[in-house]
Amino acid sequence: MATPKNILVVHGPNLNLLGSREPAHYGSATLAAIDQRLLERARAAGATLASYQSNVEGELVNRIQQAQREKVEFIIINPAAFTHTSIALRDALAAVAIPFVEVHLSNVFAREKFRHHSYFTDIAVGIVSGLGGKGYELALDFALQYSPGA
Ligand code: DQA
Repeated sequence: MATPKNILVVHGPNLNLLGSREPAHYGSATLAAIDQRLLERARAAGATLASYQSNVEGELVNRIQQAQREKVEFIIINPAAFTHTSIALRDALAAVAIPFVEVHLSNVFAREKFRHHSYFTDIAVGIVSGLGGKGYELALDFALQYSPGA
């Protein structure tokens, strides 16, 4: 398979508040600024990138199912608090079988114990945690050169 050209970025609950939400954990960049940087980076590489945020678990499940119909080839997802709770979201990613990287702005392993468990990591290609907004860009760079099995 060629490298992915159709990429979806999914942001979970409360990430719409980035910029003002707990900046010590999540930095000062807004979600719009993060998404804009990703879009520009993808475009420069000749890829298509769409971003989606929802606070609602079922809407995130629906968006992931839609990604299969849209022939999305790679997903970058920050499931936010659903990381630690959502079997439904995990099942959606497993069902569509689209390779994905799990991103967290903060280092979840350096925080409360309940954040150490993820329902996603074992089925993800990989995880980026603790590198702030830059983590999404690193995940995108990875996605742009990803080739399954390589
Ligand atoms: C987060 C970490 C989660 O534990 C938390 O619930 C979030 C954001 C992160 O990006 O660091 O909402 O996924």
